[in-house]
Amino acid sequence: MIQDDIRTLEADACARIGAAATLEQLEAIRVEALGRKGVLAQISKEMGKLAPEERAQAGKLLNAAKQLLEEAFERRKREFDESRLAARLDAEWLDLTLPAPGPRPGSLHPITQIQMEIEDLFVSLGFMVLDGPEVETEYHNFDALNIPRDHPARDAQDTFWLTDGNLLRTHTSPVQVRGMERFRPPLRMIAPGRVFRNESVDASHEHTFYQIEGMMIDHDVSVAHLLYFMKTLLREVFRRDVSLRLRPGFFPFVEPGFELDVQCFICGGAGCPVCKQSGWVEQLGCGLVNPNVLRTSGIDPEQWSGFAFGLGLTRLVMMRYGVEDIRLLQSGDLRFLRQF
Ligand code: DAH
Repeated sequence: MIQDDIRTLEADACARIGAAATLEQLEAIRVEALGRKGVLAQISKEMGKLAPEERAQAGKLLNAAKQLLEEAFERRKREFDESRLAARLDAEWLDLTLPAPGPRPGSLHPITQIQMEIEDLFVSLGFMVLDGPEVETEYHNFDALNIPRDHPARDAQDTFWLTDGNLLRTHTSPVQVRGMERFRPPLRMIAPGRVFRNESVDASHEHTFYQIEGMMIDHDVSVAHLLYFMKTLLREVFRRDVSLRLRPGFFPFVEPGFELDVQCFICGGAGCPVCKQSGWVEQLGCGLVNPNVLRTSGIDPEQWSGFAFGLGLTRLVMMRYGVEDIRLLQSGDLRFLRQF
């Protein structure tokens, strides 16, 4: 009996719809039952063979089964959609009450940090902090500092000359001259800043780096004063007691001039690769201000004397943090900078 076939088919399809585990399975069942070549379509074709009376009855039954199955499919499909949506909501759930991570704060460059520490120290010792121009005159950078015309530092090799005869300052020492022009002694000043040299760049040379200059002019200033301030400075920067050593050094603007060394922290003076086995690390240039320099800026060397020093801030940072390549400092590389 075709009616029995229809009922069996309906019951069977209903059970399979309920058991479908995925949308894909459900769709396969739907095609098999209701598709153009599906089981219902097959039965519908065979109904042609039935007597008219029987055909009408079977047709009703078939349409009812079709409708019932279509509804069952729709219902099951909606269940899938809903659970899919629920899973998605579950996965994409956000707690909007959590505090936001907030902007990542920047930090001061290690050179700026060391510069500010040194400024604070010297301000507490009665020094002014002065600025000078990065584009300097030949007079301030060389002549007034007693650097003779034939001094090798004036070679076009080391100095970036500008077409108008000015230059990029090769050191912060010209700010000494500007300080003496602007203020009368007694005078205590430091001058941090950027300096430039026409050098090829490698792990230990940069064409642009930072120095800090210092100068004190008063009555009877001596090497003892110089040493006291240098020791105070280096103790503060390295945050430990330091042993110092003066060696004679030639700088035209000081007389006597010195190279000041610090005993190597790494080996305590015994000798190691950092101090190249000498036990000492060269730290800065300094000396008593050359009377010619005072005189050039209108200060009477019979009445006044002074000390001056210049040290590389860039190098200080490298020593303090063990940075081995000077190029990192101006690279702008955040992986480097975030360590400070
Ligand atoms: N201007 C020198 C340089 O750049 C450093 C220096 C040495 C500065 C001795 C001074 C000093 O004030 O007295 O190499």
